[in-house]
Amino acid sequence: MNTNILQNKVVVVTGGSSGIGRAIAINAARHGAKAVVVSDISPDPREGGVPTTDEIKALGVATTFVKADVSKKEEVDALVEAASEFGGVDVMVANAGISLKADGPDVSADDFRKLLAVNLDGTLFSAQAAARQMKANGKKGSIVLMASMGGLSGAGITVAYSTSKGGVVLMAKSLADALGPDGIRVNAVAPGTIDTHLLRTAPGIAEAAEGFRLRTPLRRLGQPSEIGDAVAFLGSDLSSYVTGTALLVDGGLLAVI
Ligand SMILES: NC(=O)c1ccc[n+]([C@@H]2O[C@H](COP(=O)([O-])OP(=O)(O)OC[C@H]3O[C@@H](n4cnc5c(N)ncnc54)[C@H](O)[C@@H]3O)[C@@H](O)[C@H]2O)c1
Repeated sequence: MNTNILQNKVVVVTGGSSGIGRAIAINAARHGAKAVVVSDISPDPREGGVPTTDEIKALGVATTFVKADVSKKEEVDALVEAASEFGGVDVMVANAGISLKADGPDVSADDFRKLLAVNLDGTLFSAQAAARQMKANGKKGSIVLMASMGGLSGAGITVAYSTSKGGVVLMAKSLADALGPDGIRVNAVAPGTIDTHLLRTAPGIAEAAEGFRLRTPLRRLGQPSEIGDAVAFLGSDLSSYVTGTALLVDGGLLAVI
């Protein structure tokens, strides 16, 4: 569905080449964004197809790709600076995140650090750079952090991943408190099982996906664009009194298990 809820907003999306981030970026354009800055470590979608910016251009919306590894603070700072070309960031979506091939109670120290560097450091760097620019421009912006249902409920097969996503939920609440007086809202989105490359390739999760589906009240996996619509709502003025929350978009799964 196309709307104008993001009219006049400049949207920046990390991890925007594939999966959920790609859908967030494309849906931002469908919801009337003025410009969409797509960032990732590679412009190519992991699931195949044309780069996200090509899809956005086809919708007639201004866009650019900025290569940035969110675990590197200087690259994230440069990414947010690139939004100045369009007037500065209004909606920052810190979506980039990874899972591990070997997660669980015996996760290695190296893997744990690698995961936290992307899922926690990268999310913090993204929020910090956006908040700094929003304050400098006097913008009452919206920052959306990508958490997970796994950040609200634990699972033995995702000890490291769930730990990181639980941190993202509390990061959103803490930043909401810190930035609220400047009119900057910070929320987390907590997707359930969404049909992406990450879900299909994460050991343990991929095998568990059918079980999750059968326990989900809506009896299906979510589509990336359904997360894109939730993010558009949190980025828009429709959610002007919503901050510090973690919005579950999970087909009802956590309501019943
Ligand atoms: N798929 C799900 O079911 C699900 C559920 C809950 C939460 N999530 C979260 O949603 C977000 C997106 O997941 P997805 O399923 O679309 O994954 P995906 O693997 O399909 O896409 C992730 C994108 O992030 C990029 N990326 C990875 N490391 C990066 C880095 N260091 N810097 C910048 N970009 C990087 C990848 O290149 C890729 O384009 C993640 O934070 C993930 O944890 C996914």
